[in-house]
Amino acid sequence: MSVAPAGPADPRLLGRAVKRIAYGAPEIERRVHELGEEITAAYPDGELLVLGLLKGSFVFLADLVRQIRRPLQVDFIVASSYGYDTASSGTVNLVYDPETSLEEKHILLVEDIVDSGRTLSRLVDVLQTRGPKSIDICALLHKHIAAELRYPTRFIGFDAPNEFLVGYGLDHAEDFRHLPYVASLQ
Ligand code: IMP
Ligand code: MG
Repeated sequence: MSVAPAGPADPRLLGRAVKRIAYGAPEIERRVHELGEEITAAYPDGELLVLGLLKGSFVFLADLVRQIRRPLQVDFIVASSYGYDTASSGTVNLVYDPETSLEEKHILLVEDIVDSGRTLSRLVDVLQTRGPKSIDICALLHKHIAAELRYPTRFIGFDAPNEFLVGYGLDHAEDFRHLPYVASLQ
């Protein structure tokens, strides 16, 4: 774990201070490169559709796809944020549904961070009805407390600490997504 750099406060932080930089930009870059190699090797044949779960995955996905050295397509998916109210309904509402067909394709679902795993479990259930060849999950961060994730996360960037993290796509109330590092704030 790197220590927050000394010096003037980061002007991107709305006056907040970094408590700890969990993953610095060079460390993220190295790991994303490795993930790209893992993913390239994991799909020797077939069509690959990389589906980014918005908004949190947008930075990670942009870097990740450029490290995957095989043909692929990119689309996005937006799940509604009902919070925990719909926990019992077992359904997920897709605010944006990919136009790209999933049929007979390998689907790689890209998420910023797996916390409870609830969102992803429901999404995979929905996507599985569309005849894909396979569905796997790639998450930049995994808190390993995902009691509700019924599907394994095949590709994981980092085993994240159980604290609230921002940056590299992750937000707090929509702020801080543009930080080039992942940090916890004071
Ligand atoms: P889950 O359905 O409980 O796994 O929730 C995952 C979603 O919660 C992620 O896509 C994030 O949007 C959000 N989330 C969970 N933990 C954090 C965090 O530490 N920082 C920022 N967002 C988080
Ligand atoms: Mg999110």
